[in-house]
Amino acid sequence: KTRIFSGIQPSAGSLHLGNYIGALMQWRDLQDDYDAVYSVVDMHAITAPQDPAELRANTRATAAQYIAAGVDPSKSTLFIQSHVPAHAQLAWVLNTITGFGEASRMTQFKDKSARQGAEAASVGLFTYPMLMAADILLYDAQVVPVGDDQRQHVELTRDLAARFNSRFGDTFVVPEARILSETARIYDLQDPTSKMSKSAASDNGLIRLLDDPKRTAKKIRSAVTDTEREIRADRQAKPGVTNLLSILSAFTGTPVSALEGSFQGKGYGDLKGEVADAVVAELEPVRARTLELLDDPAELDRLLAVGAERAESIASETLAKVYERIGFVPRT
Ligand code: TYM
Repeated sequence: KTRIFSGIQPSAGSLHLGNYIGALMQWRDLQDDYDAVYSVVDMHAITAPQDPAELRANTRATAAQYIAAGVDPSKSTLFIQSHVPAHAQLAWVLNTITGFGEASRMTQFKDKSARQGAEAASVGLFTYPMLMAADILLYDAQVVPVGDDQRQHVELTRDLAARFNSRFGDTFVVPEARILSETARIYDLQDPTSKMSKSAASDNGLIRLLDDPKRTAKKIRSAVTDTEREIRADRQAKPGVTNLLSILSAFTGTPVSALEGSFQGKGYGDLKGEVADAVVAELEPVRARTLELLDDPAELDRLLAVGAERAESIASETLAKVYERIGFVPRT
């Protein structure tokens, strides 16, 4: 089976609808046909300041949401990034073959460091894409299912893999991003030209998997649309309506074009009602199952330990090969 790798940062207690549609739904669908490795990337999360107790809780909660969303730990390898030291070790090696200018061009770094202020941003935030490259390359992943905002990081991973291979001999698989066009970007409900993100300006723009369903429905009913009445997808002229149509399409499996037809003669209230129903119906069981899983942290930790063991056995082999290629003396 072809190997795939992906991860989500545990930087909040609840994942959001963008993570769910952009990443988790793909992960769940791919695990039957691929050898899937999914990680809770806690080492990435600490590139922004985290409260230790919250980080610990959020890491377990993120793992629980993977499982609740349908990632099956008996089919997929599910683990916490910091449990496998090879991630940090390979990241260091990759740092040494990455150009300073190359890393400086990462748009996510530019955005995040601008938001934090250049002085406040950590060096960890700067080297974050090389840690992500290490995540992917350690597992010889051919496919990386992500949302559109990770495209540039996967491109960098490809460049680093090819560069290492040409300098030191064939070592890494050069991976490809898997980004589903219609759901690659879910937008903020209050500001539908910005992607939905945990750092949303208004809380009402953000749908959390673990929010109360009534609250979720209310946020959808107050989503920003436009002053027309026509329900059609048009990213430029009608970003709010287009976003609602993509969300509905993701959950019903009906293409946006067919949805446009079915809403002819109907109003925005009808659209929002259907989206709210679909989102609540999808997320309600995910929320319930997450809470159940978090009720038994020992069992969750046990599942994650099994995953870490499998992940480590793959990763340590790759790392040993890398160390050998670059000329490190093996410890006897
Ligand atoms: P993160 O934690 O920001 O997001 C996790 C996943 O959710 C997707 N996503 C979205 N998709 C659609 N619309 C949105 N509004 C939206 N917001 C987030 C992201 O594209 C991502 O797939 N660096 C990564 C985590 C990571 C990783 C990896 C991913 C670390 N190592 C190796 C893949 C492979 C990140 O910060 O994602």
